[in-house]
Amino acid sequence: MSSENERQELEELVRTLNYHSYRYHVLDTPVISDYEYDKMLKRLLELEAAHPDWISPDSPSQRSGSGVLDKFVKVRHPGAVLSLANGFGAQDVRAWYERILRLDERVSQSGFVVEPKIDGLTVVLHYQDGRFVLGATRGDGVVGEDITTNLRTLRGVPLTIPVQAGGPNPPARLVVRGEAFMNVRDFDALNQRLLEAGEKTYLNPRNTAAGSLRQLDPALTASRPLRLLTYQILSADGPVPDTQWETLELLRGLGLPVTDHAVLVKDIEEAIEACQNWITQRDTLAYEADGAVIKLNNLRLAADLGVVGKDPRGALAFKFPAREVTTRLQGIGINVGRTGVLTPVANLEAVEVGGVVVKQATLHNFDYILEKDIRIGDRVLLKRAGDVIPYVIGPVVEQRDGSETPFTPPTVCPACGQPVEHLAGEVAWYCVNAACPAQLMRNIEHFVGRGSMDIVGLGTKIVEQLVDAGLVQDVADLYTLTRANLLDLEGFAGKKADNLLTSIETSRQQPLSRLINALGIREVGEVMAADLTRVYPDLEALSRATMDELQRIEGVGPNIAQAIVDWFTRPANQQVLAKLRAAGVWPRAALQAAPSGPQPLAGLTFVVTGTLEGFSRETVKEFIQQYGGKVTDSVTKKTDYLVAGESAGSKLDKARSLGVAVIDETRLRSLAAS
Ligand code: IVH
Repeated sequence: MSSENERQELEELVRTLNYHSYRYHVLDTPVISDYEYDKMLKRLLELEAAHPDWISPDSPSQRSGSGVLDKFVKVRHPGAVLSLANGFGAQDVRAWYERILRLDERVSQSGFVVEPKIDGLTVVLHYQDGRFVLGATRGDGVVGEDITTNLRTLRGVPLTIPVQAGGPNPPARLVVRGEAFMNVRDFDALNQRLLEAGEKTYLNPRNTAAGSLRQLDPALTASRPLRLLTYQILSADGPVPDTQWETLELLRGLGLPVTDHAVLVKDIEEAIEACQNWITQRDTLAYEADGAVIKLNNLRLAADLGVVGKDPRGALAFKFPAREVTTRLQGIGINVGRTGVLTPVANLEAVEVGGVVVKQATLHNFDYILEKDIRIGDRVLLKRAGDVIPYVIGPVVEQRDGSETPFTPPTVCPACGQPVEHLAGEVAWYCVNAACPAQLMRNIEHFVGRGSMDIVGLGTKIVEQLVDAGLVQDVADLYTLTRANLLDLEGFAGKKADNLLTSIETSRQQPLSRLINALGIREVGEVMAADLTRVYPDLEALSRATMDELQRIEGVGPNIAQAIVDWFTRPANQQVLAKLRAAGVWPRAALQAAPSGPQPLAGLTFVVTGTLEGFSRETVKEFIQQYGGKVTDSVTKKTDYLVAGESAGSKLDKARSLGVAVIDETRLRSLAAS
């Protein structure tokens, strides 16, 4: 390639990369994948290395990554918080190895540590005398933002590093670097919750983690299940380990969270093998990894090798193949959920992404389509991350030919044709027709589910068959199904039909609280259902409850009361109740007798989270109530104690951020006995 052509290519790359960087960092609407971006950047760096005099001040290689926001106090890092150079495949890794080997022959003896490259957000944590005193974002690598209060809410961030007998003791001052992120499952659950509440959903775990950490309200951060893994000591008083492997061991020994997936290998071929193994194994990680990081184990050597721009020579990011592709948006379908929320679904030209053929992807909500100006016929950028449902990032506007048509949100439900409604302050549109067939499917699935009537053997497929055959038009119809009905369905032999009928029969014994939960009243979950049974002995009594009366129950505000009253007012629901009653599915709850024993927990409000050893969910509630305490679903300032067991989730974070006392079951017992 002639020098003139190279110069043109370089200038074009600078322009293109700056444009995409702006789209990514400022507009938050990327139109190319990270992988494509990194590849172009790599090419630019090659050209700049060959012609250093062509480097312009506006080249992305000369610019700091993301800017520092003004709303948080700025923090100067004790040393540069570096980035990583990228490699794409074994050849790049070998080339990197040869390069650094030429610079220093000790490279051949160093060994390497290979770690997952977590797709999260770098954070810097300062400990003084074992206490967490300051936490910051990376910012531009020199100055970050003070997000101490938010980081305190992360379960993985130890607030103190205890001095341990026999264990390593923390240096007086210790600054560590790690990655804050969200597990894929937690992300899915969060989005599901937001969706059902009619709120905006998040794009991907990384954006959610970033957005949650930059909240000015730490209570919000606390309600997000963010995690942390640390991997580097940025600065410390006193000696620090000479190797990366020992660094990970020390961090782990100090009680900081460290990945279990790092491996120590002796040569570069083993390092490559470890990286390649991760390509197929990446979905076994609980979080998204966009690559593996190969680090020289000998940290002194790594330091001696120095940096190129912001990238240390002693480490390389081995990027996994892209899980972002572009494809054609052929149409937009509408899904109707159990609560009637309508969600748009992208129907795509089939495309392979990360080893899976994708034909559908989520478009989140109608505002999202309008905000991103996604049009039918557009080429769209699609991402599949871990087990997360694929989603459309946005249109590739540059590739439009004018034939694309803007999308108009529906005014009627696509399943039943009834008008849709929009609640003030929510992004979601709802179909409010209780007889809507699409809702019916979701409703039945919920009704038969585990926390509800627990009808074993009634999966989605069978529900679909029953609805399609017209055998079930509401949940009450399940109780009038006959053996002959079932035998008419495809795939139903005698035994399968008998088993299902037995499960349905058994479900009649479920207590009232299960049945209330099963009805799928908005805002009424398992705990609330159980609370209602303490006041209302059956569905008849509950159906007559007034707003005022309901709001006298602990934990019931105007929204919940309204949702309950609305549900029972609807004629279709009244009909379901009548049918359930006629079918004999009409459990009654024994109203609680006034508590008789000592009431040491009187006036105290508890929330329970995680798995307890000596109690089930139900028995711990009964225990607390027996001693006069109240149990509610969510942690608020009014909560006196959070009883936390194993694998406690976001409630624990929330309690900590609000200063609510966290106790275990032993302490609960002693409180009750006091
Ligand atoms: S080491 C000198 N290790 O990847 C140390 N980085 O693309 C340089 N990252 O900004 C970083 N997991 O936020 C390192 N195990 C890991 C990592 C990791 C994720 C992130 C980090 C960095 C980015 C570079």
